[in-house]
Amino acid sequence: MKTTISVVKADIGSLAGHVIVPQELIDYAKDALESYLEKGLINSYYVTNAGDDLQLIFTHNKGVDSEEIHEMAWSIFKGATDNISRPMKLYAAGQDLLKDAFSGNIRGMGPGIAEMEFEERKSDPIAIFMADKTEPGAWNLPLYKIFADPFNTAGLVIDPRLHSGFIYTVLDVVEGVEYELKTPEESYDLLALIGTPSRYVIKYVHRKSDGEIAAAASTTRLSLIAGKYVGKDDPVLIVRAQSGFPAMGEILEAFAASYLVAGWMRGSHVGPFMPVPLKYSKVARFDGPPRVIGLGFQITDGKLIGPVDLFDDPSFDIARSEAARIADYIRKHGPFMPHRLGPEEMEYTTLPQVLEKLKNRFK
Ligand code: F6R
Ligand code: MG
Ligand code: MG
Repeated sequence: MKTTISVVKADIGSLAGHVIVPQELIDYAKDALESYLEKGLINSYYVTNAGDDLQLIFTHNKGVDSEEIHEMAWSIFKGATDNISRPMKLYAAGQDLLKDAFSGNIRGMGPGIAEMEFEERKSDPIAIFMADKTEPGAWNLPLYKIFADPFNTAGLVIDPRLHSGFIYTVLDVVEGVEYELKTPEESYDLLALIGTPSRYVIKYVHRKSDGEIAAAASTTRLSLIAGKYVGKDDPVLIVRAQSGFPAMGEILEAFAASYLVAGWMRGSHVGPFMPVPLKYSKVARFDGPPRVIGLGFQITDGKLIGPVDLFDDPSFDIARSEAARIADYIRKHGPFMPHRLGPEEMEYTTLPQVLEKLKNRFK
């Protein structure tokens, strides 16, 4: 029987500003998922936070885009907002619940979701990455490195099972169309698109030799749903590891250098992406820097075993201090590009109001 892994997340309120999900919300979500486990809807679950985003990780047999599963996740976020976030007056309570009532699929309603379904291998390790204060395109660079760059992933050269390459599904979030591009032969075309992470977002990666799913990412752009700035999308990503997929260490290698992403303060700044252990899964300086946590699991008989806190290791200290140094440098630009995002992105924040105010002063 095939197993589905779903990671669904939403910012439904946080502590002391947009800093961290309080334990009360995590406990509420755990209790709710436990009751769905008892009812047999899901097979296992794990709840955590990426900064101010509540993360529901669970396995089931309903497949990708199951209405029942999406409705469950929606009702947990709704219940947690009504029963915990609002009474506690948590900051930005219910922020990501952009629609009033559930309508068949949680995509397009505010929460972010990544899902994949597969037949379990003899042993099936996965990694789940969850980011705060950035956008879905933040996965473009590491996903390219993991599945297409032999300087990152030795297996692309050495392991015959990886050698034929991968197929990337890229979503144009503005036009709503998807492209499938093969690596290595179409690497340059792929890079031409995904080098614009605000518009072209990697949604899936499949193994070329047999079409097996290798990675699935969330692609929600909140501002495109709401038509205005309502917090950054804070994406999630599931990646399969080992035995014909990149090794766990090759997957993690893609995060060993800090690269720049869009998000950070007010979703309007470029800043360094910092890989952190769970204990640092809260934002600080300038509401950041944008950060990513990584959890490793085994999928065993359809259940999650784990997790291991993948960035809780001194080998990521250099990436963290590099990120802190970059933060220090780029902050010196204050409100100037390229620290502040370009005008297309500012369309969703204050730029239209400023232009409106100045309208009558044109000469
Ligand atoms: C970024 C984010 C924060 C807020 C900032 C202002 O995604 O959530 O950086 O934009 O703290 O928040 P408000 O407008 O709620 O005071
Ligand atoms: Mg928030
Ligand atoms: Mg967030």
